[in-house]
Amino acid sequence: MKIIKVKDYEQLSNTAAKFIIERVKNKPNIVLGLATGGTPEGTYKNVIQDHQQNGTSYEQVVTFNLDEYIGLPGSDKNSYRYYMNEHLFNHINVKKENTHIPNGEASNVKQECEDYEGRIQQIGGIDLQILGIGENGHIGFNEPGTSFNSRTHVIGLTEETRQANARYFPSIEHVPAHAITMGIGTIMEAKEIILLASGEKKREAMKKLINGEVTEDFPASILQKHQNVTIIADEASLSDVQLSGDGKLDH
Ligand code: GLP
Repeated sequence: MKIIKVKDYEQLSNTAAKFIIERVKNKPNIVLGLATGGTPEGTYKNVIQDHQQNGTSYEQVVTFNLDEYIGLPGSDKNSYRYYMNEHLFNHINVKKENTHIPNGEASNVKQECEDYEGRIQQIGGIDLQILGIGENGHIGFNEPGTSFNSRTHVIGLTEETRQANARYFPSIEHVPAHAITMGIGTIMEAKEIILLASGEKKREAMKKLINGEVTEDFPASILQKHQNVTIIADEASLSDVQLSGDGKLDH
């Protein structure tokens, strides 16, 4: 794992956006794995700004999002489809037909999971996966206890995760209880991964991610076994982590 420690959220957003833009320039038909949540919002803002000012093109880019709530139509402002359109897709020249998000309204969700997984395989896998991290170590919506071998699947959300995301909904009862998420096996097949973290709330999670044991009880810990992971995190989130000088770790 390589760790880039930045000062604050603004620097995090800047650094992550530059990272993504560079990869897109090097491979215009890159397959991006995208995340939602509060953390990447600033990154997407910077990606949009760069597109508007410098013309970086997303015309050939293909995207796959990590997850979607079950039961929310794409027109619902809390669906991840709506989030992605609002925070990124509507403002860059990506082709909407090249943007993939699991369909949370599919009548056969099991089939939807298989099809989603198939589409990722068919295109040759994800080149660069962007991840956030839940306070309980979830990546995508893979909650503690999820198998490291899992593929795209339906997951029951923990009370903790629903609480953490309730800030976007009128109340906790409105937060869906289930989601479709890429599996941990799916995520681990990405050729490169960046994980973004910001703020004190993520302190414990960052400590376990970087210094903790690899266990299904803390899903993100599997990233220690991936060959090409860069963590971009701010000082507040890394305040409990011991780092050696260059920010590179052996695992
Ligand atoms: C959600 C998403 C994750 C995200 C996590 C952290 O549950 N499914 O992909 O990484 O929350 O979100 P935030 O960045 O808002 O802390």
